[in-house]
Amino acid sequence: MVSRKELFDECMNALSTAGIDTARFDTLCIFQDMLGDPNPLFLPEKEVPEETAERIRQLTELRCQNRPLQYLLGQWEFYGCPVKVGEGVLIPRPDTETLVDQVLEICRRENMTSPKIADLCSGSGCIAIALKKQLPRAEVYAVEVSEEALPYLRENVRMNGTDICIIPGDVLKKETQQQLSGLDIIVSNPPYLTADEMRSLQKEVTFEPALALFGGSDGLGFYRAITELWRKSLKTGGYMAFEFGDEQHEAVGGILRTFSFDDIQFCRDGGGNIRTAAAVKTGEQVLNYSDSTVSGHKTEV
Ligand SMILES: C[S@@+](CC[C@H](N)C(=O)[O-])C[C@H]1O[C@@H](n2cnc3c(N)ncnc32)[C@H](O)[C@@H]1O
Repeated sequence: MVSRKELFDECMNALSTAGIDTARFDTLCIFQDMLGDPNPLFLPEKEVPEETAERIRQLTELRCQNRPLQYLLGQWEFYGCPVKVGEGVLIPRPDTETLVDQVLEICRRENMTSPKIADLCSGSGCIAIALKKQLPRAEVYAVEVSEEALPYLRENVRMNGTDICIIPGDVLKKETQQQLSGLDIIVSNPPYLTADEMRSLQKEVTFEPALALFGGSDGLGFYRAITELWRKSLKTGGYMAFEFGDEQHEAVGGILRTFSFDDIQFCRDGGGNIRTAAAVKTGEQVLNYSDSTVSGHKTEV
C-alpha cells in the first residue's frame, strides 16, 4: 500500500507535468474528497486503501486531460451553498457572487424583505438558491430550458432546503415570460460568449455545455431578448440585474436604456472587472426597436 504523502506527490507531479497550473490545489481537493479528511497531509505516513488509491489515480488522470475539477468532485460551493455539478450544467463562478451581492444590496436599500424574484437561465440554480437563503421570505422562481441542467437545478434546490419554484422553459419565448408577472427583480447570468470566444475556449471550458456559453454572434443576444421581452413581467420601479462578460458593460447599459431602464449601476468583480449591472424599470413607453432579437436570436454555434 502507498502512503498519503507518496500518493500525493505522485498525483501532484502528474498534474504539473500535464500543465495544470493549480496542481497542488487540485490534488488537495481530490484527496480531501476521496479520503473525507479536510487535512489529508496531517498524517502523511498513513496508508491509503488500495481501492481509494486507484480512484484517486483515476480522477487525477481525468484532471490531466483537462476535465474540470468541479465535475470530477461532483459538487462545488457558491455563496456558502453546496451545489451539485456535472457535465450538462455550468460550474458556478465566483464572479457570479457579485451579482448576488448586488441584488441583496438593492433589497436592503429598498427595504424589500419579501420580493418576488425570477432567476432567468438558472443552470445549477446557484443564484436563486443563494438569494432564497439570504432572503427566506422572498418568492423565488428559477427558469431553465436545458434538459441536462434541470435535474441538477431540482437536486440543488432540494439539497439546500430552499422553497423555489422551478419553471422549465425557454426565456426567449413569450409563453415562458407570460408565466410570471408583477416581479420586483429579474436576475440573470445568461450565456454571453461571442462566436469568436467560442472558438478559443480554455480547455476546461470546452467540457461545459455550449448552450450555457454562447450568447449569439456578438454575445449580447440574451440581453436584448430578455430586456425587451421580460420587461413586461417586471413592476414599474422593479429591477433588472445582469451579469455579463469582459467589456460588455457599455453595450448592456445601452440595451437597458433602449428599453426604458434607468439609474443603471455597475459593479466590479473580485478581479476588478465591471461584471454586473442593475437598472430600474421606468414607466416610460418603449420606442419601437428595429433590431429586435427575440424571434431572430439563434443559439447554435
Ligand atoms: C451562463 S449559464 C448560467 C447558469 C447559472 N445561472 C450560473 O450563474 O451559474 C446560462 C444558463 O442559461 C441556460 N439557457 C440557455 N439558453 C436558454 C434559454 N433559451 N432559456 C432558458 N435557459 C437557457 C443554459 O442552459 C445555462 O444553464
